[in-house]
Amino acid sequence: MSNLFNIKLSVQNKNYECSSNDSVLESGLRHGLPMHYKCSNGTCGVCKAKLVSGTIKKIKHHDFVLSQNELDDAEFLMCCNSVESNIEIDLDLIDNVKSIAIQNIDTKVKSIHFINKDMAMLTLRTPRSKTLQFMAGQDVELSFKGGTYRYPLASCPCYSMTLEFHIRNNKPDAFAQAIFNKSLKVKSKVALKGPKGIFVLNEASTLPMLFIAWDGGFASIRSLVEHAFSLQMPNSIHFYWAYPATESAPYLYHHVKSWQTMIDRYTYHSIACEFDRYQKNDCYKKVAKQIFNALDLSIVNQSEVYLCAPAEVLIYLSELLFENGLDDSQLIALPI
Ligand code: FES
Repeated sequence: MSNLFNIKLSVQNKNYECSSNDSVLESGLRHGLPMHYKCSNGTCGVCKAKLVSGTIKKIKHHDFVLSQNELDDAEFLMCCNSVESNIEIDLDLIDNVKSIAIQNIDTKVKSIHFINKDMAMLTLRTPRSKTLQFMAGQDVELSFKGGTYRYPLASCPCYSMTLEFHIRNNKPDAFAQAIFNKSLKVKSKVALKGPKGIFVLNEASTLPMLFIAWDGGFASIRSLVEHAFSLQMPNSIHFYWAYPATESAPYLYHHVKSWQTMIDRYTYHSIACEFDRYQKNDCYKKVAKQIFNALDLSIVNQSEVYLCAPAEVLIYLSELLFENGLDDSQLIALPI
C-alpha cells in the first residue's frame, strides 16, 4: 500500500505530492518541475538534493557514491529515494534552456494517429533509463532512415518517457513522408537529438498568459499550456487558435475545449481565417489582420503573449499588437 506525502522545495517555496512508491525525482518531474537529472538509475549523481527535514527511504540501489561531506550535509539522490513522511528539500531547478545539454536518444514509435489526411500525431517512447530532459515549448530533431527534420514537442515534460509530435504532410520533409507513406510504423526506431529553442514559459511572471497559435503552431502551445497546468500556475490562461476556414475546426478542437472543464481560469477561442493552404503566399497579411480583429485588446495588453505562427504572420501581427499598446517585452514569439 502506498501513502501520499508532501515535498516542499525550500528555495522555490513550491510543494508537490509524492507517493511512497515513487522516487522524489519521478514525482517532481510528473508535476512539471524542471529538476536536474541524467541517468535516473543512480549512476551519474546529477540529481543530488539536500534533505532539510523529514524522512526518506532508499528504493533503488545506486552505484554513485556520495562523499562523507555530502552525507554529513544530508545530501541524497532523488532518483533512488522515496518519502516516509512529509519532507523539505533544498535543490536548484533548471531555470533556463542553456543549462540543458543536447541529448541523443534512441526512441521507438509508440503510436501514430492520423487526425486527417494531412496531419498525424506521432508518439515516441524513450528508454526508462534515458528520458529526454527539456523545457516545455522546445523542439528536437527526429531522424529516420536518412530523413531528419526539426519538430516542436507537443507534450509536457511531466509525461517523461512519452513524447508527442504533430506532423503535417509536407512534401519536402522526408521524415513526414515516411509517416504518410507508412514506412515509419509502430516500434520503428527514431533517433532524437535535442532539445533546442528558447520558446519557453516565463514561470516567474504573474501576468495573465495569452497564447496564439496558427494551425500546427498549436504543438508548442500545447506543451506550454499543459506545463502551466501541471505547475498549477495561478495566472489566467487565454488561448486563441487560428485555422483555415475551409476546415470545419482546428485539428484537436475537442481537446482544447475540454481544458475549459478542468481549469476555471482558462478561456478558448477559435479563429476561422480565410486562407488557402496551397496558395498561401498572399494570405499572411490577411491572416494576421483576422487574428488581430478576433483578440480582446484589453486582455492582450495586460498579458504575457506567446505567439506561434509562420514568420510572415508573426511580423504583421506583432506590428499590429505593438501599434495598439503591447510592450515588446510582453511578446514571446516562435516562427513555424
Ligand atoms: S539521475 Fe543519475 S543518479 Fe539520479
